[in-house]
Amino acid sequence: MAPVAMAVRALLLLAAVGPAAALWPQPQLQRSPPAAARCPLPPARFRFAHAAGSAVGPGCAVLDEAFQRYRALIFAAARPADKLNISRDPLLLYADTVWGALRGLETFSQLVGRDENGMYYVNETEIVDFPRFPHRGLLLDTSRHYLPLKAILETLDVMAYNKLNVFHWHIVDDPSFPYESFTFPELSRQGAFNPMTHVYTASDVQTVIEYARLRGIRVIAEFDTPGHTLSWGPGAPGLLTLCYLGKDPSGTYGPINPIFNTTYQFVTSLFQEISSVFPDYFIHLGGDEVDFTCWKSNPEILAFMKKMGFGEDYTKLESFYIQRLLDIVSSLGKGYMVWQEVFDNGVKVKPDTIIHVWKNNVPYAEEMANVTKAGYRALLSAPWYLNRISYGQDWMAAYQVEPLKFKGSSKQKDLVIGGEACMWGEYVDVTNLTPRLWPRAGAVAERLWSNATVRNLQDAYVRLADFRCELLRRGVQAEPLFVGYCDHEFGGF
Ligand SMILES: *[C@@H]1O[C@H](CO)[C@@H](O)[C@H](O)[C@H]1NC(C)=O
Ligand SMILES: *[C@@H]1O[C@H](CO)[C@@H](O)[C@H](O)[C@H]1NC(C)=O
Ligand SMILES: *[C@@H]1O[C@H](CO)[C@@H](O)[C@H](O)[C@H]1NC(C)=O
Ligand SMILES: *[C@@H]1O[C@H](CO)[C@@H](O)[C@H](O)[C@H]1NC(C)=O
Ligand SMILES: *[C@@H]1O[C@H](CO)[C@@H](O)[C@H](O)[C@H]1NC(C)=O
Repeated sequence: MAPVAMAVRALLLLAAVGPAAALWPQPQLQRSPPAAARCPLPPARFRFAHAAGSAVGPGCAVLDEAFQRYRALIFAAARPADKLNISRDPLLLYADTVWGALRGLETFSQLVGRDENGMYYVNETEIVDFPRFPHRGLLLDTSRHYLPLKAILETLDVMAYNKLNVFHWHIVDDPSFPYESFTFPELSRQGAFNPMTHVYTASDVQTVIEYARLRGIRVIAEFDTPGHTLSWGPGAPGLLTLCYLGKDPSGTYGPINPIFNTTYQFVTSLFQEISSVFPDYFIHLGGDEVDFTCWKSNPEILAFMKKMGFGEDYTKLESFYIQRLLDIVSSLGKGYMVWQEVFDNGVKVKPDTIIHVWKNNVPYAEEMANVTKAGYRALLSAPWYLNRISYGQDWMAAYQVEPLKFKGSSKQKDLVIGGEACMWGEYVDVTNLTPRLWPRAGAVAERLWSNATVRNLQDAYVRLADFRCELLRRGVQAEPLFVGYCDHEFGGF
């Protein structure tokens, strides 16, 4: 018997499917012959193999491991004695890169069906696919609640099922500092909720990065400053601004103190470490929601403002800090992403900076227009704060977003690299993370992957409900869209 070969070469997936197969996200092109043949896939005979002439062969860990994962996913319920005649024709998957091959394997896994006798098969079809946007991200917040390693890894799995490719790790913030730094170990010793159990060790971080890589997912870490840093204070004495009540220190702290040279020595050492730990070219530097109240109360800061000629304009002080931070990170050979305030405040950023648009109290389309008009690349999150929930099918609002719907030239539109769904952690921990994320984040995933013309809500509903059932079959506790049932809904019990 000829093995079922899956070649890995060009940007084309040739597999099999009847008109009824529901794929999520929808491929760019899917065609079936009028009388599509059924191709049986007996588990005992089926195997993935590199085609002759493929640029990569056995030994490519990304593909070898993906072959194993997808075999297990597809044939999870296979009986050992499953035997049948098998098509001698291989199903072919061509991809330009191994990452494209991973996406093709996911599509293939969604095509496999079982007939009335429980036999596995795929319908004959042709699929050509590629993503509309290169940056399709998901933000997890591990500061407001600690998320155990296992929950992060499971999320990476489901991201790959959705063809999402960037994990934005908002790893620290005001409430806790779970990142174990080897340069400044006191940060997590004193800033984590629990320095033994609620931390990410160096080995945990490496595990996340490698697990993500094998699924074609980049990890972009965010160390947000100068605001959102209260948890840094206990482990880094002198870093935060001391707030005053009248003439006396009030005993509370504000953002990072931007006026001391020691601040920049600290920031340099910390970001040196971060640059070496996280291999992605980009680091997310935050820069959002800086509260000026504490800076305004501090006499040393007032004196510095005067000396620098900043007047009463505290955005200038913020920019003074951010500017130096950006220079430090540039000198480490890294690119950066920042939240939109950094752009709004007129900080000079490198031309390759990515501006992350998040505010939804101002029209985000206008911000997208402004950012791209200034020549910067834009990343959209404003309409995709999935931590916000409401009664009913709120995935539809996320789905109906059109990232390029703003006034601007086609050159401006080309600067939109994609978007990120955000799951902020105020009300989310490991107990409700998965059902709140899935399948809702799938709406964002399809918007960022599929053709802009794929926007029919009824069609999306049917496919997403089907995909959600597939997630349950794969052991993911994804919540229902509406009334109904799945064949495998009790898999986790
Ligand atoms: C297996 O497939 C071949 C070619 O399609 C066919 O000639 C043969 O009869 C099949 N055998 C069985 C047992 O179905
Ligand atoms: C294969 O095609 C048939 C006929 O159109 C359809 O009923 C069936 O659902 C398809 N199966 C899969 C797994 O797509
Ligand atoms: C801080 O650094 C600046 C520039 O490197 C230098 O001019 C200044 O004297 C330093 N201040 C202190 C207090 O060391
Ligand atoms: C976009 O720029 C215009 C012109 O500078 C400005 O008036 C408007 O407030 C900006 N929009 C946003 C959302 O910042
Ligand atoms: C998206 O779909 C439209 C309409 O079918 C088509 O004209 C366009 O070429 C497609 N875009 C891409 C990138 O395939």
